[in-house]
Amino acid sequence: MSRPKLIVGNWKMFTTRQSAVELAKAVAAGLKPGSTTRVGVAVPGPWITSVVEAVAGTPVEVGGQNCHFEKEGAFTGETSAGMLKDAGCSFVVIGHSERRHGFGEGDELLNKKLKAALAVDLPVIFCVGELLAEREATQTEAVLDRQLTHGLAGLTAEQLARVVIAYEPVWAIGTGKVATTEQAQAAHAFIRGKVAAIFGENAAAKLLIQYGGSVKADNAAALLHQPDIDGALVGGASLKADSFLAIVHADG
Ligand code: 13P
Repeated sequence: MSRPKLIVGNWKMFTTRQSAVELAKAVAAGLKPGSTTRVGVAVPGPWITSVVEAVAGTPVEVGGQNCHFEKEGAFTGETSAGMLKDAGCSFVVIGHSERRHGFGEGDELLNKKLKAALAVDLPVIFCVGELLAEREATQTEAVLDRQLTHGLAGLTAEQLARVVIAYEPVWAIGTGKVATTEQAQAAHAFIRGKVAAIFGENAAAKLLIQYGGSVKADNAAALLHQPDIDGALVGGASLKADSFLAIVHADG
């Protein structure tokens, strides 16, 4: 089955309001008309509305990088999925390794966040991936199995249609050490197989699975040509329009 490619820049806690708006506009201006590749940017919370305005009328999708699992309440410093949607987001990233490992977010919490986003019809990029020690201990598949089983628990196949999975091996994030195409393809095939076991072959065939971890212009094409790699979640290289657009256009 042919799936559209989805390239998303994760700006993490970088940019100023001005540089964010300029970057978003430059990305929008650099897209090739008529391309089937979808393009998004996950931006710092305070810049969401400015970036949404900057790319209004262009195909660039704007997303949040995290959300709380409650609709509202006394949760100082948090942002709900509904607020992201209200601000103009068309997706939210949940379960990034920096949230899992830097902020101690576990599978059950992430499952609640995912359900909260889907409850307000906000599509999700749900991140999974193993640590270096886990890969070296040949635990990669066990870790992915656990993250998917618990993370996607209780979702219907209909809800899964609004979820993209991002496979980001933690050892490849921000390290310049990209997974080989074989390593990435094997993990993606495992993820698709696991999703097929839970939600059925049809849902799995439609699922977009992005690769993330040191994606750059010079390695993107080889990754994107793998049969189960449907896009990229890009950190460092998404902070400059030229390097991000080179990845967006890597697939032709
Ligand atoms: P880098 O592309 O900087 O390795 O970051 C990947 C990432 O964390 C995207 O979410």
